[in-house]
Amino acid sequence: MKRLGLSIVVFAVCITHRLALGQHTGYNYGFDVQNRVKRELDQSPRIILRGNGKSDIQVRQEIRELEKDQELWNLYILALSMMQFTDQSEPTSWYGITGIHGMPHQTWGGVGPTPGSKDTGYCTHSSVLFPTWHRPYMALYEQVLYSLAQMIAGWWPEHERLLYQQAARRFRIPYWDWASPSPTGGGVLPGSVGGSPWIDVNGPNGVQRISNPLYSYTFRPLNVTAFRQGPWNWWGTTLRSPTTTGPDAESNNTLVALNLDQNQKSLAQRLYILFSNYGNYSRFSNNAWIPQVNNASYDSIESLHDTIHNLAGGGGLGQPNIQGGHMSFIPYSAFDPIFFLHHCMVDRIFAMWQLLFPESWVTPAPAVLNSYTTARGQIQNSSTPLTPFFINNNGNFWTSDGVRDFTQFGYTYAELPIGPNNSIRAQARDVRKAINRLYGTSSPANLFLNELRSQGIRDNSRKKPTGKRNVAAAVFSGNLYREWIANIKVRKQALDGPFTIHFFFGSPPSDSDPLSWTAAPNHVGTMGVFAADKFGMGGMEMDGLDISGTVPLTTALMNEISAGGLATLDQEDVEMFLKTNLVKKVLGPGAKVWDVNKVEGLRIGIASSTVRAPTSDDELPVWGEVEVLFEL
Ligand SMILES: *[C@@H]1O[C@H](CO)[C@@H](O)[C@H](O)[C@H]1NC(C)=O
Ligand SMILES: *[C@@H]1O[C@H](CO)[C@@H](O)[C@H](O)[C@H]1NC(C)=O
Ligand SMILES: *[C@@H]1O[C@H](CO)[C@@H](O)[C@H](O)[C@H]1NC(C)=O
Ligand SMILES: *[C@@H]1O[C@H](CO)[C@@H](O)[C@H](O)[C@H]1NC(C)=O
Ligand SMILES: *[C@@H]1O[C@H](CO)[C@@H](O)[C@H](O)[C@H]1NC(C)=O
Ligand SMILES: *[C@@H]1O[C@H](CO)[C@@H](O)[C@H](O)[C@H]1NC(C)=O
Repeated sequence: MKRLGLSIVVFAVCITHRLALGQHTGYNYGFDVQNRVKRELDQSPRIILRGNGKSDIQVRQEIRELEKDQELWNLYILALSMMQFTDQSEPTSWYGITGIHGMPHQTWGGVGPTPGSKDTGYCTHSSVLFPTWHRPYMALYEQVLYSLAQMIAGWWPEHERLLYQQAARRFRIPYWDWASPSPTGGGVLPGSVGGSPWIDVNGPNGVQRISNPLYSYTFRPLNVTAFRQGPWNWWGTTLRSPTTTGPDAESNNTLVALNLDQNQKSLAQRLYILFSNYGNYSRFSNNAWIPQVNNASYDSIESLHDTIHNLAGGGGLGQPNIQGGHMSFIPYSAFDPIFFLHHCMVDRIFAMWQLLFPESWVTPAPAVLNSYTTARGQIQNSSTPLTPFFINNNGNFWTSDGVRDFTQFGYTYAELPIGPNNSIRAQARDVRKAINRLYGTSSPANLFLNELRSQGIRDNSRKKPTGKRNVAAAVFSGNLYREWIANIKVRKQALDGPFTIHFFFGSPPSDSDPLSWTAAPNHVGTMGVFAADKFGMGGMEMDGLDISGTVPLTTALMNEISAGGLATLDQEDVEMFLKTNLVKKVLGPGAKVWDVNKVEGLRIGIASSTVRAPTSDDELPVWGEVEVLFEL
């Protein structure tokens, strides 16, 4: 099979080849596939998410790893394509499954709405159920693709059939690692996802060029009644960083790729800190601002996940009046194929986190947001039904307690090898090693470990300071160092749509060209707020909801030390530096630049903690008390 190139050049070239877009469709198997799929789907009266996979656990791979696994990759692409070409009225079609999350705000699987909530989706946000609800959602999506893959494998000519049938049994959905340094030659955004609207795939009927099911989903048809407003009711296909708000809009994946690459270090730091210092589920799980819970811990897996939504959708970027693509808007985000790659990554982070903190779990909390089946204020706990995911034919649902052991869905991740000989303790060591390797590279912790390896740290006072040595000497006092974080709290609906908060050191880039912001060499990081305008939200009640998140500053400060602009990471030096140099910018819907002081409820505090560096690569840094030192 001919594989897609990874380079940025490919992203650019493909935009100019848009005329070719219309030419590609699904795979031609040489017989009427729709009827066969329909017969298969019609067999079950109710869609049950089975949890009997413990006897057959397979690894969910990173998408770039899966791509090397040729037979499995072909099956993945064909199954995705088939799901997307299945009639939208089928509950297990692309439209059916993705529609559970937000739009079209309709009943799925017969699970009716809570009074007053029918104009929302089932997804849970700003809730203790955020990580657990999305777990069976991913498992259901995996189950649908798995059965399609089994069916497709059986259609190969006899001499190859067994090979494909064996591969199909290993099928699990891939994740997209948006936080680790990108593989050589490629960016954070995989070429297979953003590179081309078509893809060559080897199927049972030979190699064919089909529309790339990872690039976009095309509505067949677009329901202009359900999608009540523009541009949603005239964009016939999902878009990322759309070039216009008109019906002729195209994705600009080049821009998405650029923004992701620019933010990679910031994303990695946030993830590294979540693994190191967020051992309490209530804090780790979601972005709702609850003063007693969050005042020293502004970040969460959900807030980090929000930023990816905005970066992938391109929220607020583009020419005036362009609001970003589907991924930036809660109700439309799940239609974009990148959504499931992203959420599988979120599930992997959650699974790794669970191994590090096996004791911490869902504690009851009131829902601050409603959903299709949740009223605002309702207490959510570990036995709250995760609707609409049926566990059996008696109308019972999966719960957080039920999905705690994810291996019963028959999957694991490479960092979490499940074997009789792996004690929890040994597994946790392996996970910490993986975290250091994948997400620690821009942290002072890694610098410390490198120094230890070269035996430089203990006697660096006697060495001539040069380059990196200089930084280490300025950063560490024994094995202690200081982390610096911008804590952000804001009203989720402050700007009636998604927006991003950007930080820079020194002269800010021009307001007239927000496109260039993240590409600026002095860009420090972005926090994305994943929202939608009130009309588009329908019945999702977000009034008064505050959320929080962070932008880590330490890596950028170390670069300043290296460049000679800052002496140390000590409080006096950093406080003076930030008060003079930290520039904040807010980019709202319609590419409008906002005065930071005009954004409702926006508070930015600079927090710091003394941290003890790890002394071996199977340890993580140990954080002290996080204190807010000053506000900006
Ligand atoms: C379009 O959406 C409306 C409102 O949600 C719904 O009543 C109608 O059945 C949908 N039409 C199709 C063809 O799905
Ligand atoms: C896409 O974004 C890139 C990077 O900002 C820009 O150079 C290019 O002109 C954009 N392409 C289109 C078609 O807007
Ligand atoms: C985690 O945080 C919640 C909310 O603040 C608290 O009720 C709970 O006791 C904490 N759990 C642990 C293990 O500290
Ligand atoms: C967080 O709140 C608690 C209780 O209200 C308070 O004791 C503590 O000082 C606060 N921490 C910060 C960093 O504001
Ligand atoms: C969870 O809440 C329900 C009511 O909403 C209650 O019946 C149940 O006992 C609670 N379970 C736990 C484990 O707190
Ligand atoms: C697990 O340990 C047993 C006993 O030490 C050994 O015989 C077996 O080979 C080990 N299995 C694996 C997969 O390492």
